[in-house]
Amino acid sequence: MHLETLLAHLAEEGGVHDPYGASHLPIYQTATFDLKKQSGSKIYDYTRSDNPTRDALEMVFAKAENGASCSCTHTGIGAIALLFETVLKANSKILVEKDCYGGTYRLLQVYKDKYNVEVFFADFNDLDSIDVLMQTNKFDLVLCESPTNPGMKIIDLRQLAKIAKSNGAKFAVDNSLATFASQKPLELGADFSVFSATKYISGHGSTVAGALVSKSMEDGEKVAYYANAEGRSQNPFDVFLISLGVPTLPLRLKHHEQSATQVAKYLENHSKVKKLIYPGLESHSAHTLAKSQMKIFPGVITVHLQDVETAEKLVASTRWFGEKASFGTADSRIEIPAKISHASFSEEDLKAIGILPSTVRLSIGLEHIDDLLEDLEKGLK
Ligand SMILES: Cc1ncc(COP(=O)(O)O)c(C=O)c1O
Repeated sequence: MHLETLLAHLAEEGGVHDPYGASHLPIYQTATFDLKKQSGSKIYDYTRSDNPTRDALEMVFAKAENGASCSCTHTGIGAIALLFETVLKANSKILVEKDCYGGTYRLLQVYKDKYNVEVFFADFNDLDSIDVLMQTNKFDLVLCESPTNPGMKIIDLRQLAKIAKSNGAKFAVDNSLATFASQKPLELGADFSVFSATKYISGHGSTVAGALVSKSMEDGEKVAYYANAEGRSQNPFDVFLISLGVPTLPLRLKHHEQSATQVAKYLENHSKVKKLIYPGLESHSAHTLAKSQMKIFPGVITVHLQDVETAEKLVASTRWFGEKASFGTADSRIEIPAKISHASFSEEDLKAIGILPSTVRLSIGLEHIDDLLEDLEKGLK
């Protein structure tokens, strides 16, 4: 079965056996289930532990990522916290690609301060150094995004998975930007795929959500235990909201790619643009690697502008690009990461990943391409 077919038949493929043949996911918006009145093959008890609506989405996400099991969480960052709780313990060591989402960076500070977890940031494009670092330190977990947010770096997931495995560390990939419609980290060797469903998967920006998919059932059972023990599970109504975007994900992502490619080509040659980073263009240093890992390039573009004034004017003057956090929605967005999504970074760490106050992140939406290009042209005048 192809991914498009799986997603179009979400309820059925999620194992929902509705007596009325509901064609979309029914919402079991209830805290409890009566143990005396159930006749299904699985007995439900309490929604924090298990719920048929959430079970269905989890089953579809697990199949889509080619994993053994999945736990859906309130938020994407909640899914990353669930990963940490499952794999790390006090005094653990974690190795993280230095170009990571600001919320992940902040969460790592919490683990560092409260549980004495040793956090190492490194450049995952330098795999020789990573190998040496891993041989000299016993890491429990290696974590990266690919593409990274906001630097749009591409990490060689196959190679990194091999290095992590040979050094006895679990390897997790934050797949929020690419999504399973484009990239399957578990097939490339990762132990976990974690993502924010708030972005492309929902596609409509109607709620926040996340998921953690495990390659092995053993890890999946641990994840489910912590999800229940710490109350991280997504509530059924939010599951329903996320499910609305799922069947159209591959189609939307292709449209995002098409428009983003046009925008990237236009901006790359603009005199006020110093450097543009979009893995879909040949000018990206890892374009070939990106093509070998991703089927579709998502709609996020990072642009280094000539100066702060140009960046601020562009953000302030565009009509169709809202100054909003997040990405992957139907509406286009623009932000200065140093001010919004990555405001939690120290000045020094921001500099280390090459993000300046004149760096702008664009999320290309589903508007007509002519409107977007006209808007950007005016904003850069
Ligand atoms: C790469 C990445 N991972 C995780 C998250 C966290 O997701 P959420 O905002 O749904 O908690 C984000 C949010 O922007 C993100 O960009």
